[in-house]
Amino acid sequence: MKGINRARTGLAGAVATFTILALAACGGGGSDTAGDGGDTGDGGSDLIRVGFSQLGAESGWRTANTESVKESLSADNGFDLTFVDAQQKQENQIKALRDFVAQDVDVIAFSPVIETGWDEVLQEIKDSGIPVVLVDRTVDTTVDDPFVTWIGADFKAEGTTAGEWVAENAPDAKIFELQGTLGSGAQVDREEGFGEVVGDQIIGKASGNFTRAEGKTAVEAALQAYPDMTMIFTHNDDMGLGAIEAIEAAGKVPGKDIQIVSVDGVRDGLQALVDKKFNFVVECNPVFGDQLAELITKVADGEDVPKETIVIDKAFDQTITQADVDARAY
Ligand code: AHR
Repeated sequence: MKGINRARTGLAGAVATFTILALAACGGGGSDTAGDGGDTGDGGSDLIRVGFSQLGAESGWRTANTESVKESLSADNGFDLTFVDAQQKQENQIKALRDFVAQDVDVIAFSPVIETGWDEVLQEIKDSGIPVVLVDRTVDTTVDDPFVTWIGADFKAEGTTAGEWVAENAPDAKIFELQGTLGSGAQVDREEGFGEVVGDQIIGKASGNFTRAEGKTAVEAALQAYPDMTMIFTHNDDMGLGAIEAIEAAGKVPGKDIQIVSVDGVRDGLQALVDKKFNFVVECNPVFGDQLAELITKVADGEDVPKETIVIDKAFDQTITQADVDARAY
């Protein structure tokens, strides 16, 4: 290890408590090192060496999350960050995680693109003694106590909030569900939460992999397959924006002929709400870099941290104003 002797207790810093933190709003491919290593001249460093595997750059949400993480895990704030974008490929993430182990970083953080398939690499990390901080999404693994702490949104609650709006405002809607990356925590949990409330109104589903282009393609096919659909529930804004393009190209009016309920609340999504093309948006707040930095610092120092930190989300309907959108930080 190049730096100071950070805690290598793995799980010792975790306590099984549940904390809710309210967040204040604030903010390519390959790898980059954000810090300069902070060399002291004697081979040591007082920076915390963090390897962060981001899952990709698939959406406006992800871009805002990456900016927030990089801004908070800066050298000025005491971090030597190695950031790797996996381009939505699990094999890239696994390679990055193994590289972080080889580099003997102080803390490994990552946003898993899907929930399963991590057993082997998580066991390797555990054997190395490097603590893991899960970011945004969760894992489903046979490895005991695979991470010290997780920070992210309550995806199931987001789906439930969307479902409750539909139940109250469009109880007769015939819904096509535009799913995120299949097998990701965000897809699995949003679908579960939504389905528990208005599952009987869903007439079809397909994945748009959380991207605008794939969302558009999925909705083009759905317009043919489900000509009676009156609503789309999309697992993120980017796919919903792709849906708008497909709906308009088919000569229909988004927000009227086909209502759109979305998740995220990035500026483009909220603009679609002001423009009456989206009907309801459940927020998923990506700006939690400061909270992540605080957790990583505590983990590196072997201090107790909550096992989970849930990022607080809001929801928006068409009463949102242009001024609200213009003031949006991302
Ligand atoms: O995991 C969070 C989800 O991932 C966001 O809702 C989506 O936009 C992103 O791709």
